[in-house]
Parts: sequence; structure tokens; C-alpha cells
Amino acid sequence: MANVIIVGTQWGDEGKGKIVDIYAREADVIARFQGGNNAGHTLVVQGKQTILHLIPSGILHNHKICILGNGMVIDPEVLIREIDELLERDLFPPDTKLYISENAHIIMPYHRGLDSARETRKGAVKIGTTGRGIGPAYEDKINRTGIRFCDLLNRETFGEMLRRNVEEKNFHLTRFYNDKPLEYGAIFDEYSGYADRLRKYAANTSLMIDREIKKGGDILFEGAQGCHLDIDHGTYPFVTSSNTSAGGACCGAGIGPTKIDAVVGICKAYTTRVGSGPFVTELTGEMGERIQRVGCEFGATTGRKRRCGWLDMVLVRHSVRVSGITGIALTKLDVLTGIDKIKICVAYKTMDEEFGEYVPSGTKLLEQCQPVYEEMDGWSEDISGAKTMDDLPVNAKRYIERLEELAGVRMSLISVGPGREETIMLENPFDRAGNLSSPETSHKRD
Ligand code: IMP
Repeated sequence: MANVIIVGTQWGDEGKGKIVDIYAREADVIARFQGGNNAGHTLVVQGKQTILHLIPSGILHNHKICILGNGMVIDPEVLIREIDELLERDLFPPDTKLYISENAHIIMPYHRGLDSARETRKGAVKIGTTGRGIGPAYEDKINRTGIRFCDLLNRETFGEMLRRNVEEKNFHLTRFYNDKPLEYGAIFDEYSGYADRLRKYAANTSLMIDREIKKGGDILFEGAQGCHLDIDHGTYPFVTSSNTSAGGACCGAGIGPTKIDAVVGICKAYTTRVGSGPFVTELTGEMGERIQRVGCEFGATTGRKRRCGWLDMVLVRHSVRVSGITGIALTKLDVLTGIDKIKICVAYKTMDEEFGEYVPSGTKLLEQCQPVYEEMDGWSEDISGAKTMDDLPVNAKRYIERLEELAGVRMSLISVGPGREETIMLENPFDRAGNLSSPETSHKRD
């Protein structure tokens, strides 16, 4: 029995969908703990593509409990659409175990309205949000004016809270942003319909998870986005509005830190970012375009082209520390095949300082940072069939070993292609309860 958190180590889009899908097979419960439909993972089932933004991909494995935790912000319209899409394809049988925390916050139309009105007003200095209302929904949560799922389910409470919110938000929308006001009655009717539809999924999910842990179940906590989009530890203000690092799993799912056995950090073999904000290893020329094209780097939620660059190990080291990562799942290594010389960023430097251990906090300082690169020989052999480290070309192995040294943790898994079978499995985090890896104690590989 083990409880494992999966988080991104970069700016999201590290390829968590595939890794979560692999580990979900081991788990009895898959719980999301933060974010909302700003995330998205693409699943190909029966040859047809589905993009899930809210429901954990574990939903496709029969009999698994899938939880939308209290730390999430949920757009009910999007959730119902996802359920309907799965229903249409017979992927949501009547006994599907989907549960929504009564404490999760609800994204309302005025959240989406404020998100886009603010971005428009910011112009060139915008954050580049996904426009889904995520930030304004979390603002209301912290401001103690948010509507939780349990509030939505009670007509009277919902009506009162909605009236107060609409009055205040309309003031901001019309007076400050010159936008159109929203109508209370229309929202009330629409959202009452969502409440009727979703009521049966409401649960005290913290208690459910605790009961499963006591029964000896395996729990997978599925993070969205990545550590450097964390509201506390990321490249603020160009971040999302939740705690994307491993600590967020405890608060966002309602379990204590003593229950966690392992933390897997997903790290792409290069770096990408969508939205604005400093990006020290960004490649704007031909190499960046090559990585973007070969890696199919388009956002699953907004379809935006992702900015691409060399792997930045300052970012990853920072994430290993902040999330207490015990093993890395390296993804998209195959995208680097055919590149003659591969660079790894090992530190940042400015005119007078060098940073190797952490990403400096000040935006202006970070913008001045230049990457310090190490260069390694690449490989040209197709690696997609590799099943063990020994199947990899020697230069690919050297690249991986150097990353382990720089990160200070070993690899748990290496992904060499999009398919589930295109994976080198090194360690199963669910086997290691109480036996966390460190570079000194982990497996022997040759
Ligand atoms: P928000 O989460 O929509 O408020 O967006 C804030 C920032 O986080 C923007 O730069 C987004 O592009 C970024 N972001 C949010 N979700 C994701 C994600 O799933 N992958 C990558 N970037 C994301």
C-alpha cells in the first residue's frame, strides 16, 4: 500500500497524462487536488481523442475511485460536458465512482468575465491566463465570498450568495472594466440545473480517502500544472492561483503529510512554457521551432503554441526541493533524437551573481539571468522501442545520468514515445512505501 503524489517540475505540460495513466493502474483512488479546467490531458481511446480537463484519467479504469478534491475550482458546465462525452462513448457506466468534494469551489460566469476583462486591460503585461476564470475563483475563495459545491446544492444558500456576488461583480465589470453586467436570474436557473445534475457526486472526499487509506488502498494524487506555476513557489506573478507543488496535495485533498509515501516529479527532457513570464533557456530560433514541431507542443486547453527551450535543471532542482520529490519520470526523451549537441542549463548568471540551487524571486532579476550550459553529444538512433536502460544509445544514457546527478534524485521512469508501451519502467513508487529513494540507495542499473 502506498500513497503517491505526482507533480510537474516545470511550467506544466510535462506529459503528466501518460504517466498518471500508467500509475493509475496501480491505484485504487485517483484524486485531483488543485486547479480546474486550465489543465487538460489528451486521451486516445478506441482510436478517438478525448481531452479531459477536470476528470482524472483514472476514470477509464473500471472500479477506480476518481475524486475532484476540495482544493479544486470546478466549472460545472465543463464537468457535465466531460461526463456527457464519456457517457456517449460508453466510458461512464452507471457504477462509475466519481466524487466531488463538497468543499470544492465553483467557477461562475463572472469569474470567466473578470479573468478576460483583466487580461485585456493589462495588455502587454498580461499573464496569459487560460481565460477559464481560475484566478478570480480562487480570489473569492481566499476572500471568503466563494460559492462551494455544498452551497450550490442548497437553493436558498446559493440564491443569497449569488445575489451578493452578482451585485459586487457587476460593479467591477461595468464601472471598472466597461464590460456588460450579468443577470442574476439567468445564472441562478442555469446553475440550479447543474446542481441537480451533479448532486449525486457530492461527498466528503477527505473522509473517503482516509477510509481507503485505512483499508490499505493505494492512492494517487494527481497534480496539474507544474511547480513553477505554483502561487507561492513559481515565477510570480506569471503563475496560476493554486499550490501546484506536492504540499498542495495535503490541503487540497484533505489528508495529512504523514500519509504520503512518495512524490514523483514529471520532467520533460526539455522545457516549455505557455503564457507570459521569464524563461531563461527559451530558444526563439530554429532549434526552438524544431522542438516545438517534433514535440507537438500545443496547449491542450487553449491550443496555443508552447514556447520551447533546453532543459533547465535550476528549475528542476528547485522543484525537487519544494516538493520533496523522490523519483523523476522523464518524458519525451525521443523528441531530442537527432539533435547533434544537446544543452542542459546548470546555473543562471547575471553580471554579478550565479544561481544554481534556486530560481531567483524578482522578475526583473530573473529576466536578466543568462543560462550557463553544459553541452552533451546527442544520439540519432530511434529509441522508441527501448524497454531498459541498456536498450538506449550510450549518449542518451549519459544524458539521463547527468540529469540524475544534477537533480539529486534517480529516475523512476523514462518515456520514449507517446504510447503506453513506449516506456522504460525503473521503479514503481507504489512498491516503495516507507522506502523512499535517494541517489545513494536506489537501484543498480547496469
Ligand atoms: P490560469 O491558471 O488560467 O490563471 O493561468 C495562469 C498561468 O498558468 C498562464 O501562464 C497559463 O498559461 C498557465 N497555465 C495554467 N494551466 C496550465 C497548464 O495546464 N499547462 C501549462 N500552463 C498552464
